[in-house]
Amino acid sequence: MEEFYRIRRLPPYVFEEVNRAKAKARNAGADIIDLGMGNPDLPAPQHVIDKLKETLGKPRTDRYSSSRGIPGLRRAQAAYYERRFGVKLNPETQIVATLGSKEGFANVAQAITAPGDVIIVPDPSYPIHAFGFLMAGGVIRSVSSDPTPDFFLQVERAIRHSIPKPIAIVVCYPSNPTAFTADLDFYKDLVAFAKKHDIFILSDLAYAEVYFDGNPPPSVLQVPGAIDVTVEFTSMSKTFSMAGWRMGFAVGNERIIAALARVKSYLDYGAFTPVQVAATAALNGPQECISEMREVYTRRREVMVESFSRAGWDIPAPRASMFAWSPIPEPFREMGSVEFAKLLVEKAEVAVAPGTGFGERGEGFVRIALVENEQRIRQAARNIRRFLENAPTQLHNVVPLANRR
Ligand SMILES: Cc1ncc(COP(=O)(O)O)c(C=O)c1O
Repeated sequence: MEEFYRIRRLPPYVFEEVNRAKAKARNAGADIIDLGMGNPDLPAPQHVIDKLKETLGKPRTDRYSSSRGIPGLRRAQAAYYERRFGVKLNPETQIVATLGSKEGFANVAQAITAPGDVIIVPDPSYPIHAFGFLMAGGVIRSVSSDPTPDFFLQVERAIRHSIPKPIAIVVCYPSNPTAFTADLDFYKDLVAFAKKHDIFILSDLAYAEVYFDGNPPPSVLQVPGAIDVTVEFTSMSKTFSMAGWRMGFAVGNERIIAALARVKSYLDYGAFTPVQVAATAALNGPQECISEMREVYTRRREVMVESFSRAGWDIPAPRASMFAWSPIPEPFREMGSVEFAKLLVEKAEVAVAPGTGFGERGEGFVRIALVENEQRIRQAARNIRRFLENAPTQLHNVVPLANRR
């Protein structure tokens, strides 16, 4: 029997193969150091947890909440944009709270896509950037995610050769998985480009606060007039280590925000009110927890780059995000990122995410997440050193990518 239409558009996650290898190794007693998924291991701030507890267990907060987000939460997000980016937003018409930014992104795709609509999506990218639109019946035209001047030549070509003309372009800086960042000049060019071609910009800014070297990533909305064509997504998941709480935001263009709010009004009643109240406290409260989070990831980044380099694997230091995007060490390049990631689990007890899980241009790379503590990162480096020293033995029996079907 033929698979359902939507399921056909959702191939099994590439990461599943590595997850299976991980489960198998763990069942056999291995202590896998998991640098695979971008799942923050830090605790949510105590004052936010306290606010959640304080709000729980009252009949009023047990009721259905507000799908667009309670007004105080939307005002808190407006205050954050003003404080952090100098961008003024109307909480009534330009902000919607979402059940994590992933849900917001997927439902914007549902809201704005007609079957066959073309969307320009970076490759490699966080999977929902493409699959949100594929699920909605859209067609993906991929471009490299490197924010260089060449980017616009590529996108211009993609627009010229797409039928029908694309409706939107997705950008994500700091990028998951590549950790690339973009500056305001790039966004100025992007906004001018989007206006010229009459397309929307969907900007995923999930890593707005996870940056190193004192260089905060800008928002597309800082460009004057960007709101005419832009919607931007932010998240509490990484900023406040609240990934499981499922709280994010879509802000910007009123037409898209209204469309998203309409779709959501049919689907959900908003996050649990205590979660929304606690998220409001996070945005309005002391911000030291954010710089502490940043310091933890900065130290981990340093430990990783330094200890992996001593182990024989040179990893480019990311400038932002919680990931390093690293070429596969030379002797293993031919086998491809999935086989390499599996081998690393089996022989070094270290899990990383294979580059092809983020798109075809991800081949040759793996993504390493800074989600274990410094001691575990050092242990991973020691395991990898042994693994690399035994490279000739490890390579025995591995079928090169080119010879596989
Ligand atoms: C680029 C990017 N966007 C969105 C998300 C999802 O975030 P949320 O937890 O807000 O749904 C992630 C999570 O890893 C991400 O890396």
